[in-house]
Amino acid sequence: MKRREFIASSLALASTGMAARTGRAANGVIEILINEPVGRIAPELHGQFTEHIGGVIYDGIWVGENSKIPNQGGIRKALVDRLRQLQVPVVRWPGGCFADSYNWRDGTGPQAERPVRTNFWANDRALWKVPDGPQKYEPNTFGTPEFMRFCRLTGAKPYFAANVRSLSPLDFDQWVEYCNAPAESTTLARRRAADGSREPHGVTYWGIGNESWGCGGNFLPQEYATEYRRFTAWVPDYGMKLNFIGSGPGAGIDHPNVAWTRGFLEAVAAKRLSLFDQLYGLSLHYYCGTTGNGSSINFSAADWYQLLWQANVMDSHLTAHWLAMGEIDRDHKVKLVVDEWGAWHSGPAIDPRYLFSYPPSMLDALVTGITLDIFNRHAEKLAMCNVAQLINNLHTLFLAVEDRFTVTPNFWVFDMYKAHRGGQSLRFMGDAPSIPYSYQGKGNSLWGLAGSASIHQKEKRLVVTVVNPNVSEERTTEITLHGASARSGRVTVLAETDIHAHNDFEHPNAVRPSEAPAKVSGSRFAWTFKPASVTKLEIDLA
Ligand code: AHR
Repeated sequence: MKRREFIASSLALASTGMAARTGRAANGVIEILINEPVGRIAPELHGQFTEHIGGVIYDGIWVGENSKIPNQGGIRKALVDRLRQLQVPVVRWPGGCFADSYNWRDGTGPQAERPVRTNFWANDRALWKVPDGPQKYEPNTFGTPEFMRFCRLTGAKPYFAANVRSLSPLDFDQWVEYCNAPAESTTLARRRAADGSREPHGVTYWGIGNESWGCGGNFLPQEYATEYRRFTAWVPDYGMKLNFIGSGPGAGIDHPNVAWTRGFLEAVAAKRLSLFDQLYGLSLHYYCGTTGNGSSINFSAADWYQLLWQANVMDSHLTAHWLAMGEIDRDHKVKLVVDEWGAWHSGPAIDPRYLFSYPPSMLDALVTGITLDIFNRHAEKLAMCNVAQLINNLHTLFLAVEDRFTVTPNFWVFDMYKAHRGGQSLRFMGDAPSIPYSYQGKGNSLWGLAGSASIHQKEKRLVVTVVNPNVSEERTTEITLHGASARSGRVTVLAETDIHAHNDFEHPNAVRPSEAPAKVSGSRFAWTFKPASVTKLEIDLA
């Protein structure tokens, strides 16, 4: 029986079964197969991304040591506190497109002596009208020593993107040397000590360029493969396993763009198959777009469904690239690294200087839930994922302008989903009547419910997360645990009656989740999911 048929028949059975037991019909079904593990959910799937763009670094993260804004060594304290709460696993830096125009040396040495350079993003039309500032002219006050301080304060691992377009492999080797050479061993190790860190930083994740098909050099995949090999041959490793991440494709809403994946991997393999031993991951970027008028907070129900539909395309993109990778890398040594993902709206910016700084609403929260569930369901394929971007940008978790700061609905979804980290992803099948809608004159439909499940064997704990995209209807769902039985549980729900709800500086708590004990027991029970919601059930197993 095909998966869809299985779910449809389960839905029919669930509906009659539950009606007989409770007098209420189920309009949703979830089957969790405890004995069908998919793969471990690496904590790194909840990684973040920070670029020298708009208000991400300057003001978002870095406020300066002499600022009146509470800070720890110049880094915004409110952000550090929230990232500690999130136990953020890994942060990518310094770009993005910025990375391929960045000389890491500019961000070392005494801050007062660092050069000011034109920022990659200075060309962006949105910045033409705003006064000059760090968004246009990069002061380099925040460089490797400050980023490493940020990582130490938050507990995150660093993931650096090297400049392939405009620096040489020697410059890359020397950045690795500056970061990782043993204390006092070389001139660069001594420069690191003078910058505040005698001991090596131990940076293991290194991206070899960014979007090398575009802002990272306009390469063809075969040309990029040559650069990749040059950059990764004989890099000093100081006894550490360096994890190189190849610049991968940018997937569109209508096409996964596997041509880049194939072209690059074939060209690497043509030299030597064993090169896959050091290619830790292939990066993939997928931005799911925006609403009909580009607004993050003003949209119709049809816009809502369409953007969620587009977010769901991540699922087939992962499968398409994984299959293409397997044709060349037969043992699947190389994993996927989705190091940029999220919605990409076009207004309204929280500050004109802060490029792409749009307040996320409940719509973005559901995009986050759908995407993190997809990552869980593909856990065996993924080594790392990084949402774009951490603060004041695109699919952001935080907004900050000077002394004002708030978390966004996206933050709360990450906070809820951290319970999955380190767990074993399980086969999850869910369905509910699909939702027909019309978008820009064309009919379409979105599934009625989706989610993921993970088991934490030691604690005998099952974590189930579910998105109900229906803007007005709740879903009473029969949940069956095949191979386990529930004893007790807790539920966390992020739901608002207004689908446009969002947090701003005046209303930082407009959207926040609620928690309660959950009445769940046995291997089959009912649960009602609120309209337009993200729900987490944490279930203690018998
Ligand atoms: O996240 C913003 C930009 O989007 C990044 O710099 C680039 O890699 C992508 O195109």
